[in-house]
Amino acid sequence: MIQLQNVTKKFFKDKSLDNVSITFNKGDRVAIMGPNGAGKTTLVRVILGYYHIGSGEVRVDGYDPIKERVEVVRNIGFIPQLPPPIKLSCKELIEYVSKSSGCTQKSIIDNADKMGLDIQKQMNKSFFKLSGGMKQKLLISIAVSKKSDILIFDEPTANLDPKGRESFYKLLEVIKEDKILLFITHRLDEIEHLVNRVVYMDLGKVVSDEKL
Ligand SMILES: Nc1ncnc2c1ncn2[C@@H]1O[C@H](COP(=O)(O)OP(=O)(O)O)[C@@H](O)[C@H]1O
Ligand SMILES: [Mg+2]
Repeated sequence: MIQLQNVTKKFFKDKSLDNVSITFNKGDRVAIMGPNGAGKTTLVRVILGYYHIGSGEVRVDGYDPIKERVEVVRNIGFIPQLPPPIKLSCKELIEYVSKSSGCTQKSIIDNADKMGLDIQKQMNKSFFKLSGGMKQKLLISIAVSKKSDILIFDEPTANLDPKGRESFYKLLEVIKEDKILLFITHRLDEIEHLVNRVVYMDLGKVVSDEKL
């Protein structure tokens, strides 16, 4: 369960999150929407413990994302809005993820295959040197292979070709019902069949929160 209570996060004077209180429970599959600058990525980063908050409280399965970051991140599969500058080769990255999160290398490779990414051909290449879409496909394969109870995707399809997008949504259909899925998107029509709740944000606030 993810709980935010009266969370305010400021950068200088601007409030990126303005007194936000929201709870995500097991089985919630949430589309998080709203204009650029609404605070969506900040919300996700606060849940992941990237940012200290000004006031309020955040708990992920009872853990504090700042003080107990390892416990929090262990249980989250995350795809960032922009791929991080990972210096490892694809092979090293897959080995690392498999060791640290206990999923098999094969499941990552199989999921990459389902995403239309022939990762076997790229194994010795640096992750950094893959195209934007290829990076995203590999990160998606990793995130869905990890046995996390929480999946957080921050505009994951922005870099994907139409076929990649389609394969991604197909991968998500097999995700178990008891997980929490937070999916930031501008395209509700594409993921409407995958979600059961839609949250709109604007100016750092949750402006609507509806069950579908
Ligand atoms: N690291 C940062 N430093 C300064 N301002 C930031 C930072 N991250 C986000 N912001 C500001 O917070 C607001 C919300 O940003 P963000 O959460 O990225 O919006 P969204 O993901 O909804 O487009 C914006 O005004 C942005 O400029
Ligand atoms: Mg964002």
